[in-house]
Parts: sequence; C-alpha cells; structure tokens
Amino acid sequence: MSLVGFKAGNHPQQTERRGARDDVDDRGTDQTFFDSLEERFGKFTLDVAAAPHNAKCERFYTRENDGLAMPWKGRVWCNPPYSDCGAWVRKAWEEWDADEYPPALIVMLLPANRVEQGWWQDFVEPCRDRPGSPLSVEFLRGRMRFDRPGWTPGPKGDRPPFGCCLLIWSDQ
Ligand SMILES: C[S@@+](CC[C@H](N)C(=O)[O-])C[C@H]1O[C@@H](n2cnc3c(N)ncnc32)[C@H](O)[C@@H]1O
Repeated sequence: MSLVGFKAGNHPQQTERRGARDDVDDRGTDQTFFDSLEERFGKFTLDVAAAPHNAKCERFYTRENDGLAMPWKGRVWCNPPYSDCGAWVRKAWEEWDADEYPPALIVMLLPANRVEQGWWQDFVEPCRDRPGSPLSVEFLRGRMRFDRPGWTPGPKGDRPPFGCCLLIWSDQ
C-alpha cells in the first residue's frame, strides 16, 4: 500500500476554517458518560456551552448570551463547539487565572486528535500534566457517541471518527 498522494479528509466536526455549524457543533454529551463524570467530580454547577435542549446544568450559557463573554464560576462543565476549540481553551485559562473568584473546577471535553494545532500547542501542551500545573489531560478509551436533536442511538456505530480527551483544571 502506498500513501503517496493520499489526502486526509477532515470530519466536519474538526474543521475550524468552515466556521460554526449547528449541525456539527450542536452535539450533546452522552448522559451516561456525563453522569459518570458527576460521580467522580461532584455536581457541575454551570454549563458554559449549551442550548436549552442539551444543557447539562440548570445554569447554562448559550450562543445568544455567549459563554465566551460571560464569567465562569463554580464547577464548570464545557463541551464546546468543536469548530472553535482554541477560543474555549483560552477562555478557560483566563477564567482560571482570574484574580477574583476563579472557578473551582473546569472540565472540558475535546477531540483528542488535534494536538498538532496551534491552540493545543499554545494553550495545552506546554503546561499539561506538569508539576504545579492545574491542568491535566486524560485521553479517553474508544469513540464517544453524541446526542443530536431527534436522534435515537442504534446498537452500535454512528460515532465521529476521532477519540476524545478531558482537560481538567483543578487544584487537587
Ligand atoms: C457540543 S454542544 C454541547 C452541549 C451540552 N453542553 C452538552 O455537553 O451536552 C455545544 C453547544 O454550545 C452551543 N454554543 C455555540 N456557541 C456558543 C457560545 N458562544 N456560547 C455558549 N454556547 C454556545 C451550541 O449551540 C451547542 O449547543
């Protein structure tokens, strides 16, 4: 087999150049997976990237009031639009480093296959999993299914072609 001339195609959820697209950005975190995170981390109090039909917390921000422009307080859950991952990671750092009332915890779910991109190289790689750093990264097993409006999960398949990781800002 030869890879000469092979051109990798990006899944639509992976292309920032195309800009925001609700058909790919508006994918809810699987509830069972989210429940397991709450068992581990305790209850999240603010979902910073949501729509009314997929919000995981009672308090949430939407495209209309813009989670990138609002303060992040409490125990923050973030599964951001994958069309613009870098802006959300940058915002998480700004909030974590805030002088007054930084969040107690931020957990962010991201695609795990963009580690060569500028945002990962600038905001994640230099500081993750270092002694004294609040940021740790966990690469998750398998490929996650995401909820979409009107979608019923079948027995298997229908997963995006990439794995995911958790970015965890915590003082623990
Ligand atoms: C990947 S979905 C996550 C949904 C839900 N929070 C969850 O974890 O299941 C990302 C959501 O962020 C919303 N969104 C897009 N831009 C946003 C913004 N600037 N501020 C807040 N939410 C936004 C999208 O409409 C979409 O519903």
